[in-house]
Amino acid sequence: MKEKEDITPGGTALEETDSLYWIRRMRNESPDIFSHGFRVAAFADLLGRGLQLSERELENLRRGCFLHDVGKVMMPDGILAKPQPLNEKERKTLELHAVLGDLIVSGISGLDPSIAKTVRSHHERWDGTGYPDRLRGEDIPLYARICRIADAFDHMLQEIAIHTNSREVLIEARSRLKQGCAKQFDENLVTVFLNIPDDKLGVYSG
Ligand SMILES: [Fe+2]
Ligand SMILES: [Fe+2]
Repeated sequence: MKEKEDITPGGTALEETDSLYWIRRMRNESPDIFSHGFRVAAFADLLGRGLQLSERELENLRRGCFLHDVGKVMMPDGILAKPQPLNEKERKTLELHAVLGDLIVSGISGLDPSIAKTVRSHHERWDGTGYPDRLRGEDIPLYARICRIADAFDHMLQEIAIHTNSREVLIEARSRLKQGCAKQFDENLVTVFLNIPDDKLGVYSG
């Protein structure tokens, strides 16, 4: 019998054919989203371990974080690739990726419901100004709060790396994460994240 493909970062093989279909679409059509998902899952795993989540919980956390932007596969190329800032209509369209991702992941049989919740709520903000449901504080599912931090941290690293030497990238990203505490992030989770040593975070910082 053919061995199942192990494609999730640090996890066991996704057994559902539908999962592999979407993972392959991400990899083939949007390599940047695929590699971003991989790094976000890795950062989330480090934070989850700091929270002493069980291996089963970590596996579901990684899966949700890896797939968090899967809905972007359905976005028009013109929006994803646009170098200039998006206009209001384009921004609203892009925001639909959270709901589309939820629909995609909810349609895959056998996945833990926490995975779809992570995908849906990864753009919710601690102060209630995020999307799609404007959830606030601890109403936001824990894994989605973790994903928000890991997602933002990866974007910060990529952005900072463009204009900063590699030794200072992590320092600057840590500082920006702290600044976002009051509005965007769960401060307790950020504290745990900032305790992760540089040598572990730096693996993914380029
Ligand atoms: Fe997203
Ligand atoms: Fe993302």
